[in-house]
Amino acid sequence: MRGAGAPLGGLFPFKDVHCLCHSCYHLYTMDSPNKQELFEYYNERAPEYEEFYDGGTSAKLFDPALIRKEVAILKKLLPDYVNGRCIDIACGTGFWLPVYERNCAGITLIDQSENALSDCAKKIEKLGIEYKTEMLCDDIFSYPLAEQGYDSAVIAFLVSHLTDDEVDALIASLKTLLVPGGRFVFMDNAWNEVIANIPRSKVSMVTRTLKDGRQFRILKRYFEKQDIQNLAGENNINLEIIYWGKVFFLATGRFTDSPA
Ligand SMILES: C[S@@+](CC[C@H](N)C(=O)[O-])C[C@H]1O[C@@H](n2cnc3c(N)ncnc32)[C@H](O)[C@@H]1O
Repeated sequence: MRGAGAPLGGLFPFKDVHCLCHSCYHLYTMDSPNKQELFEYYNERAPEYEEFYDGGTSAKLFDPALIRKEVAILKKLLPDYVNGRCIDIACGTGFWLPVYERNCAGITLIDQSENALSDCAKKIEKLGIEYKTEMLCDDIFSYPLAEQGYDSAVIAFLVSHLTDDEVDALIASLKTLLVPGGRFVFMDNAWNEVIANIPRSKVSMVTRTLKDGRQFRILKRYFEKQDIQNLAGENNINLEIIYWGKVFFLATGRFTDSPA
């Protein structure tokens, strides 16, 4: 756990907003992280989600070629850090599944979005790996995941949408669901000079617009190396930053104080 009131990387502006339920959310501010809005956004975005990895949705910010180049790098690196019984936490459409599945004896894929999981199911069928996969449609913070049930965990592009309290809860959950010595892989967006030059904070509420024009306000954070090093230090994680690009990063971690 972090020290009292210390936000992740010292940057999270909503640290006093703990209650996200609809009934009292408005007591704080109309622009605080709203989990239901995040859930709806990702569910509705599922059919167009993977365009992000082709540079499509970030084209205004980055050269799509740069996105594709870095996605290719992540794809090359990821399989080295995933093995055995794996859990893909907030797997979305299962974009990374074809990249790592060969190394795994069993794979649990969990996400709250039915639409994203239906795309994921198509990938599972195409790969012919139904026999070793299970899909769970639920909130990762309410579903009772098996203690010490996994050798590895993939956490891709989830943490950038979590509040500080949720990051704490995720880390606590990871600690129990991984076997002692188990490893997690963490991929997300790096804070970089392009993002820094637009009027956006490292952690802020942003507007996301779907192709049909519907707009959603969601929390988005970007990471500097120091942010994830702080998280590791505060949670007894042996962290290795494997790749730090202009847009994305990949890091792996093991808990040094896992229960025996
Ligand atoms: C940016 S997408 C990442 C999807 C996938 N991991 C990837 O790398 O392509 C974020 C995903 O997190 C899911 N998500 C966010 N909060 C969640 C929660 N509390 N429980 C389950 N899924 C959640 C969303 O539904 C969405 O599919």
